[in-house]
Amino acid sequence: MYRTHTCGELRASHAGQTVTLAGWVNRRRDHGGVVFFDLRDRYGVVQVTVNPTLSREVLDKVANVRMEWALGIEGVVQKRPEGMANPKMATGEVEVVARDVKVLNPSKVLPFMVSGDNDLPDENMRLKYRYLDLRRERMTRNMILRHKVIKFMRDYLDERGFIEIETPILFKATPEGARDYIVPSRLYPGQFYALPQSPQQLKQLLMVAGMDKYFQIARCFRDEDLRGDRQPEFTQLDLEMSFVHRDDVLDLVEGLYNAMIPAVAPHKKIKSIPWPKLSYREAVERFGTDKPDLRFGMELTDVSDVFAKSEFKVFKSALEAGGVIKCIVAPKAAEMSRREVDALTESAKGLGAKGLAVVAVTAEGLKGSAAKFVTEEEIAALKSKTGAGVGDLILFAADERAVVNKALGGLRLILRDQLNLADKDVMAFAWIVDFPMFAWNEEEQRWDAEHHPFTMPQLADLDKFDTDPGSILSDAYDMVCNGYEMASGSIRIHRRDIQNKIFQMLGHSEEAIKAKFGHMLEAFEYGAPPHGGMAPGIDRLVMLLADEPNIREVIAFPKNQAGRDVMADAPSEVDPKQLKELHIQFRD
Ligand code: AMO
Ligand code: AMP
Repeated sequence: MYRTHTCGELRASHAGQTVTLAGWVNRRRDHGGVVFFDLRDRYGVVQVTVNPTLSREVLDKVANVRMEWALGIEGVVQKRPEGMANPKMATGEVEVVARDVKVLNPSKVLPFMVSGDNDLPDENMRLKYRYLDLRRERMTRNMILRHKVIKFMRDYLDERGFIEIETPILFKATPEGARDYIVPSRLYPGQFYALPQSPQQLKQLLMVAGMDKYFQIARCFRDEDLRGDRQPEFTQLDLEMSFVHRDDVLDLVEGLYNAMIPAVAPHKKIKSIPWPKLSYREAVERFGTDKPDLRFGMELTDVSDVFAKSEFKVFKSALEAGGVIKCIVAPKAAEMSRREVDALTESAKGLGAKGLAVVAVTAEGLKGSAAKFVTEEEIAALKSKTGAGVGDLILFAADERAVVNKALGGLRLILRDQLNLADKDVMAFAWIVDFPMFAWNEEEQRWDAEHHPFTMPQLADLDKFDTDPGSILSDAYDMVCNGYEMASGSIRIHRRDIQNKIFQMLGHSEEAIKAKFGHMLEAFEYGAPPHGGMAPGIDRLVMLLADEPNIREVIAFPKNQAGRDVMADAPSEVDPKQLKELHIQFRD
């Protein structure tokens, strides 16, 4: 038997028991003949003491032992002497006095330390030796948290009548707005499978199949540019329900999250229950984005009316061109240095604004780049409209509405971090609803689906298809939290005529519709039920719950930021014979 106990479970109540343990050497110290090890396994760390009174044979073995060797220990649990307990360790009241030590496997010197609070090495180094990196307590904790999240989801949905159904990975293109990964077929020269960007089509077909309530912990594949919260393959809690309206879906998922978070991450506080619902328009106007961070205020205020008669060239010309003037108020930031304000201005330009006008409200009056252009009357109106007071810094952008929203929305997040306005232990969930159905694609001069093409337009808007497609709203919804998009979903189209119309709007020819989506359209003709669902991203959720800065930290074997697996070195070249079988030849 390798072990009677785990390293993490020993307490004072085990004193006197003989135990065997197995684990890795976390630390080794020599104190005048007595050797101490911290032995670590997934469950924790315990101190092992090796007395010089042991047999020569055991002492010789111990003499060579180094960090990260795998050991088996047999010994007696002993309460540590008065004053020697370590309250920082869960097992700190005890130590195990070794009687025998077995070397299960020695270890080379690791490329980096995995114990203690050392600075992390370069990320590519961590990913190359991910199996060592995962030995870190922090990474182990993240993996366990991820497991708990997924387990909670499964149990919760199972209790509510959902069934988990697997869907194929080798499938056909399912558009979610990214590029597909494609897989060449050996049996059919020149033909390809596509890896699903999501199980979207399949879950809808499961509704046609009468499965009623489906879920899956689903892997999705998208060939897109990577960011901290994006990976080329990632995991969704994918779910779909029949005979539901929007709020049936939202209530289910909100209930799941409100029950799950106290159970898996009790230190997190959900800001408000029920979660607020904001329309897309409202979110963009108040926070400058459709994924607002609602942990703090600092909303965008439209002050175009305050400056209707302004002679400030920047404001005047924006209004004359049909634009708006909006501002945000940075609390207690009036003392910000010239340099800091310049940096904010540069950020605003990076976000698409032409500049940034600032007014600092101080006890001695107004200061800042726009101070001399603001009249007594205007500042009084500003104060009453925005609540700004002495000590605050007001930041203005004047331009087209969309430009202003984007710039101030971005500055709001920069200031959040600079001024420490958001509590990391608060989860401010909200639903964003009433999205536009279509977004105009300037580059290709056509309409794109804002969510995906299977989303139901709001029925009241159906007659606007030919007149004003941009104003059509859809029955799509997003879950947002702390500035991240956490989930998306929608009520789906279940009627062939509407689905066809959407595909036409998106510029697909009749043949293309038939080739790409013929199976979906046909399915809708067999009594497809009204249905809807959504897909929360699991990586982003676990990232927030674990206080990690990016999703790579909560994925066992992620790709690096350049999209490579640096451990196995993938992608990599393949044998020419394989290529031949796949009928693939390279051209320069
Ligand atoms: P959507 O494309 O919005 O919707 O994705 C849903 C959620 O998945 C997560 N997510 C990602 N996480 C990590 N890396 C990525 N590259 C990535 N892309 C998306 C996000 C996002 O909110 N089929 C629809 C859902 C539906 O309509 O039911 C879909 O996939 O958290
Ligand atoms: P200018 O007249 O271009 O020198 O700008 C005067 C001040 O207004 C500078 O502080 C600019 O950064 C700022 N500014 C310029 N364009 C805008 C704009 N569109 N919105 C807000 N402030 C601006």
